[in-house]
Amino acid sequence: MAIKHFLQFSDLTLDEFEYLIERAHVIKRKFKNYEPYHPLSDRTLVMVFEKNSTRTRLSFEAGMHQLGGAAIYLNTRDSQLGRGEPVEDASQVMSRMCDIIMIRTFGQDIIERFAAHSRVPVINGLTNEHHPCQVLADIFTYIEHRGSIAGKTVAWIGDANNMLYSWLQAAQVFNFHLHVSTPTSYDIDPSLVAVDNTNYTLFANPSDACADVHLVTTDVWTSMGYEDENAARLKAFDGWIVNPEKMQRAAPDALFMHCLPAHRGEEVAAAVIDGPQSVVWDEAENRLHVQKALLEYLVLGRV
Ligand code: CP
Ligand code: NVA
Repeated sequence: MAIKHFLQFSDLTLDEFEYLIERAHVIKRKFKNYEPYHPLSDRTLVMVFEKNSTRTRLSFEAGMHQLGGAAIYLNTRDSQLGRGEPVEDASQVMSRMCDIIMIRTFGQDIIERFAAHSRVPVINGLTNEHHPCQVLADIFTYIEHRGSIAGKTVAWIGDANNMLYSWLQAAQVFNFHLHVSTPTSYDIDPSLVAVDNTNYTLFANPSDACADVHLVTTDVWTSMGYEDENAARLKAFDGWIVNPEKMQRAAPDALFMHCLPAHRGEEVAAAVIDGPQSVVWDEAENRLHVQKALLEYLVLGRV
């Protein structure tokens, strides 16, 4: 049987996501009730980090522990990956010693090559092009607060980055619409969007993109790996802050999301991220619950 990986959002079907969301609700409830649940006892997750992380490491490591398994953390600084061992070789070796692998790296091509040589499922914990686990947590969070996201409108205010490409794929799967406003020169790369994706509209003006939407979301102006562009980005993104004026354009019960870490006063005003419409802490916590559902599904299938 073919191994199932989660390298980008479009790797799973709506039916599979609906199953994962249902499992995430069950698994979250067990966690909140201190009910032991160890379906992955004696299983091992290897986590490879080529970029920094707080939430992704914590949620995968704690999640695997809570499911009864173990998680091993590797980074480029003290593994042979940092000394040029080919990813294909690393993948063959790692996947003989564990049950599932999570990778945070640079180009999507790296994780694709890794997965192609792996004997076990591989999960994308963020690449330059995609961050599917975060968007899964965000959709779960939306559903918890507001019910189905189908037919709703989400505003993306920021550059075309890994989060946006995962949102674009999610819009197609879950059938909602995105209003996308990126500064000039930081716009969508069409090669990263499915040609039949009609689930988004582009807006030159970020305030207009927020009009009547059900959810406003943004991200840092400079993603990991693009630090050299920071000064130019600060200038180009002038006007792209999500502030109370933009939130007032949205539907009255609109939510605000940010994958974190955030920079108050840059992409988001403190009054918004720390305000009543913000669900950023639920979003962060839900990484744990949805990823536990994902680990369970990729290792054991439907239970
Ligand atoms: N949102 C997110 O992936 O956070 P970390 O970079 O801390 O893992
Ligand atoms: N777009 C950000 C997300 C961080 C979780 C980055 O890639 O740095």
